[in-house]
Amino acid sequence: MNIILVGPPGAGKGTQAQRLVDNRGMVQLSTGDMLRAAVKCGSRVGVQAQTVMERGELVSDDIVAALIGERLDNDQLSGGFVFDGFPRTQAQACALDVLLHSRDRKVDHVIVLDVDEDILVDRVAGRFTCTQCKAGYHDNFKPTTTPGVCDQCKGPTFSRRSDDNEETVRNRLSEYRSKTAPILAYYAPERIVEHVDGMIDIDAVSNRIAAILDHDP
Ligand code: AP5
Repeated sequence: MNIILVGPPGAGKGTQAQRLVDNRGMVQLSTGDMLRAAVKCGSRVGVQAQTVMERGELVSDDIVAALIGERLDNDQLSGGFVFDGFPRTQAQACALDVLLHSRDRKVDHVIVLDVDEDILVDRVAGRFTCTQCKAGYHDNFKPTTTPGVCDQCKGPTFSRRSDDNEETVRNRLSEYRSKTAPILAYYAPERIVEHVDGMIDIDAVSNRIAAILDHDP
């Protein structure tokens, strides 16, 4: 089963993708994570992507489609893929269809996390990650149990993303509205688009997603 998670910045795509990895053995393919890794190691792709990401704009379709293509070839297909933050344009949706079709695969579900835009800036600005194990937290919504200590690996250091500031988040939202939301029309004829309320708590969102996947005929 291959799933696309769609939603504006801070909707909870990464949080729910991680749950699908943990609970169903799916492989998470996050183009945001891939691009941040490229920036960190200073590769050609990373150098091209860095300023675009810092402005909150979209990296070119060719670059992200190539990153996904490489991962489809290298990762185990067994549990299926959860695409987190890809596709983000109609050109990327078409590219994904071609990539999957050539591997005898298809998109089974497009799950949209609906969230009020007013709360997104708070959600994103409060987010932090363990530098050791990459577990994700939030100052208010998902703090560590012991302040300053990661629940999972007990690591003491955390980081925040450089594009998680208010101005950049507003640009990311604008890109979502103009370029990403329209891809839902691309998938509508296949009747695979399902909406989930992303405002309810994290476990409840996971349960709604599980209900959709478990009713797959
Ligand atoms: P990317 O890394 O994909 O960022 P994004 O889409 O802006 O999404 P986020 O990671 O900010 O949010 P999320 O929906 O994953 O929410 P999360 O689970 O973390 O992309 C970054 C940049 O890379 C882009 O701007 C672009 O430049 C580039 N890029 C990436 N992919 C691209 C592509 N395909 N094409 C072109 N360019 C691309 O949750 C947020 C916070 O809220 C967390 O703290 C979490 O704990 C909390 N939270 C989650 N769910 C809930 C809930 N239900 N209730 C309360 N709190 C919650």
